[in-house]
Amino acid sequence: MIIYDIGCGYGHITRDMARALPQAIIIGIEINIISYTRAILTSKILGIKNTRYIRKNFHDVDLSDADGLYMFLLGSLMEQIRGKLEKDLKKGTLIISNKFQINGKWKPIKTLNINTLAPSQKTVYIYRK
Ligand SMILES: C[S@@+](CC[C@H](N)C(=O)[O-])C[C@H]1O[C@@H](n2cnc3c(N)ncnc32)[C@H](O)[C@@H]1O
Repeated sequence: MIIYDIGCGYGHITRDMARALPQAIIIGIEINIISYTRAILTSKILGIKNTRYIRKNFHDVDLSDADGLYMFLLGSLMEQIRGKLEKDLKKGTLIISNKFQINGKWKPIKTLNINTLAPSQKTVYIYRK
């Protein structure tokens, strides 16, 4: 199973997914070199074997092998990413979007309200392509 975190930041979600799903490969894509480097080093230090990191703009990464995709982006990026998800992802891919909905024809199969210390991040939207 291949799962992407597009815009993985320091990689904390990639590591949580890697621990929860040891048989999966979790791929974090991050454009910021400091966040990318910290993500790689932290996985190495913690001995997590099933994470991979790519330092790129996620628009330039082929996501067609994804079985799952997680994202927590800016609202302004959601419109841009919609076309890419429609083009790249295979049918059946599970998509989790933290905080921001995918617009257009996309309708969440589930909406979760979660308890979090970050008040602006209370809702998670789950989609199946
Ligand atoms: C809100 S943070 C989310 C971090 C982490 N995924 C989380 O859930 O906490 C968004 C991240 O996306 C990265 N990002 C924004 N645009 C990007 C792009 N076009 N390609 C790759 N990463 C990008 C930013 O550098 C930032 O680290």
